[in-house]
Amino acid sequence: MADRASEAVWVEKYRPTSLADMVGQESIVPLLRSYAAQRSLPHLLFAGPPGTGKTTAALCLARDLYADEWRQSFLELNSSDERGIDTVRTTIKGYARTAPIGSVGFKLLFLDEADNLTSEAQASLRRLMERYSGSCRFILSCNYSSRIIDPIQSRCAVFRFRAYSNEAVHTQLKKVVAAEGKKATSEALETIVTASSGDMRRAINLLQLASTGVATITADSVKEHATVPLRREVEGMIGAAVAGNFHEARDRLYALFTDRGAAGEEILRAIHSYLPDIGETVLPAREKVRLLEYLGEVDFRLAQGASDRIQLEAVLAHIAAGSAALH
Ligand SMILES: Nc1ncnc2c1ncn2[C@@H]1O[C@H](COP(=O)(O)OP(=O)(O)O)[C@@H](O)[C@H]1O
Ligand SMILES: [Mg+2]
Repeated sequence: MADRASEAVWVEKYRPTSLADMVGQESIVPLLRSYAAQRSLPHLLFAGPPGTGKTTAALCLARDLYADEWRQSFLELNSSDERGIDTVRTTIKGYARTAPIGSVGFKLLFLDEADNLTSEAQASLRRLMERYSGSCRFILSCNYSSRIIDPIQSRCAVFRFRAYSNEAVHTQLKKVVAAEGKKATSEALETIVTASSGDMRRAINLLQLASTGVATITADSVKEHATVPLRREVEGMIGAAVAGNFHEARDRLYALFTDRGAAGEEILRAIHSYLPDIGETVLPAREKVRLLEYLGEVDFRLAQGASDRIQLEAVLAHIAAGSAALH
């Protein structure tokens, strides 16, 4: 279960607490607001890339529905929790079966990263959703809805969260800057908007990083922090693959998934932006072109719901094999 206590982290500090305060996602938020107003909703499936407001929407819906008593009627679970699906299942069952408190008539259970569940676990989740639908509504969130079994999808109203528009990110950044009593140049905000590609979490994190120790946030302080962390790690990983050191490259990839919690698309993007900077002696232009073409293919497969791990491992294998043929 996520710890939301840390006020120092801006993404938590400025997370909207009501649907009325959410910027963007205009095709989704009004519908959720009408659910809250009518105190009636089906099971929901929130699908979309990281940082697009899925968790925020679930939390806001709960707060709008239950007001001050929201904590008693809302449970958040993460499927990638190491405690395993059996515990999750026991917890879900224990929570869903008990009678709802208060006047709304049902509780909410928010299951984050539901696409991490095996299809077997999803099948048993589906049974719980059927059995306890009277007392509990489920909200599942996932990156790719194609990884959620059809019987669950067909029981849910599916909401597709899209990357935020530049305007939405810009609006939220300006709110945060003002609330922190800071200033930011318009060039700095533009740089953040561009670097975050519609991922609000990334945008606000970048803003916070760039604002440490300065009163006015400038494009330079932003650039200093943009994409550096993931990029450095991706460099090490590609370096190992180019050197033909596949196992090391794969270990580094796994570390990105587990330690950094990076998403496949995010890693792919970092590889993509790093490629042009690899020296000609390390990776000849012909190899780069071949690789770029392959990255495009992988990008498509990920969007179709293919496994992050398998696809990115294939990228590393591709690089390692290509450089082995050269040397
Ligand atoms: N509509 C929004 N308006 C303002 N801030 C938002 C909005 N959506 C997301 N955020 C900010 O971005 C952060 C990440 O959003 P979150 O809902 O956790 O994304 P997801 O669950 O889709 O990965 C939140 O903590 C919040 O600070
Ligand atoms: Mg989330």
